Amino acid sequence: MIDHLTVVDHPLVQHKLTLMREKDTSTKSFRQLLREISLLLAYEVTRSLPMTTVRIETPLCEMDAPQIDGKKLALISILRAGNGLLDGILELVPAARVGFVGLYRDPETLKPVQYYFKVPAELEDRVTIVVDPMLATGNSSVAAIDLLKKAGAKDIRFLCLLAAPEGIARMKEAHPDVPIVTASVDDHLNDHGYIVPGLGDAGDRMFGTK
Ligand code: URA
Repeated sequence: MIDHLTVVDHPLVQHKLTLMREKDTSTKSFRQLLREISLLLAYEVTRSLPMTTVRIETPLCEMDAPQIDGKKLALISILRAGNGLLDGILELVPAARVGFVGLYRDPETLKPVQYYFKVPAELEDRVTIVVDPMLATGNSSVAAIDLLKKAGAKDIRFLCLLAAPEGIARMKEAHPDVPIVTASVDDHLNDHGYIVPGLGDAGDRMFGTK
């Protein structure tokens, strides 16, 4: 188990994040940087995967060599912005199984409501990595993890690009067993639920919508 919160302060991650925050960075560059940075964050979130050994034969002799234990990872994207993190992570973990959780906010209750849920089988036997670039209020992340736990997931980790202190606190309260890996903890949330200083709307910036 890794710590509850890991901030990846690697110079490459921090440099790429600065470029992504810049308001004039193009959609094309933003997407490319997101792919690169998600690969680097995936390196950190997979650091503590369970290991075993396997007997192999090198050209010189036999040895017990390390390999990742258990079933293939489950990578779960919270729609739609989570999809921007998938390509980079899959480059590093190409055999991972992939699932999707879609949630919208009910305008009256303001609570997240599920509109899509499709996840890999046997979640209980897989390390499950939930991805969403922005941990803002934490409402959708908490709701998505509630659903994944109901579906059987036990070893869950959360990967995001930016986190607000409010979202971290909400996650820690609701799911203290789920470690968070992020590139930055920003200052605060504004009245519209945006992370400040942040990078704006991650979905709009990666997909070129407004
Ligand atoms: N979602 C975003 O895309 N950006 C924020 O700042 C907060 C939530």
